[in-house]
Amino acid sequence: MSKIQIILGSTRQNRLSEKVGKWLLKLLNEKENIEAEILDLREYPLPFYNEPAPAAALNRNYSNPEVQKWSQKVMEGDGYIIISPEYNHSFPAVLKNALDSLYSEWNHKPVGIVSYGGVGGARSIEHLRGVLSVLDMIALSKHLTIFNAHQIFENDQPQIDEKLAQFADTLIKDLIDYTELFKEFRAKRS
Ligand SMILES: Cc1cc2nc3c(=O)[nH]c(=O)nc-3n(C[C@H](O)[C@H](O)[C@H](O)COP(=O)(O)O)c2cc1C
Repeated sequence: MSKIQIILGSTRQNRLSEKVGKWLLKLLNEKENIEAEILDLREYPLPFYNEPAPAAALNRNYSNPEVQKWSQKVMEGDGYIIISPEYNHSFPAVLKNALDSLYSEWNHKPVGIVSYGGVGGARSIEHLRGVLSVLDMIALSKHLTIFNAHQIFENDQPQIDEKLAQFADTLIKDLIDYTELFKEFRAKRS
């Protein structure tokens, strides 16, 4: 059994990330040997990074209990989907802070990126990739850029066309394969 966590990259009122996350959760839970869950940053009110040293130097000992709670939850994940809307041509600050707050919890774990926005959130993805690489994450080459996301996810029942369904399925298949591969890799390293 592998655990895949879907991180909602936005916390604002009326956010779309929650709807996109629920759709992906359903798709993941249809797969065998996968346990999926949503990580909602609203439930982890992290301080803006304020430790005396970078997370990479802290050995998972954080002074703030919210960060400790976030660390324990992220440790449970074998792979991730990050849902990243585009805010001012990048990804949201709340997501950057959640990533910055940890280090070894992320290492050698695969991640698929899902974005949306005027150009499908493409600029957000490119910024995110650099950050994920420093965290030693395995960002899949394939990603999901959703155009017209507000129309698609307007109602409780999202209007997913065949092409988007296919792209999502490919991303999920790749993520599951990489997740299994890197579980073995991490076991060898430990
Ligand atoms: C602060 C802010 C900045 C935004 N900047 C962009 C942008 O640069 N490019 C874009 O395509 N959409 C931009 N948008 C529109 C968002 O992509 C759209 O509102 C999306 O639904 C936000 O994701 P969320 O609903 O999960 O918060 C911005 C929205 C916000 C709130």
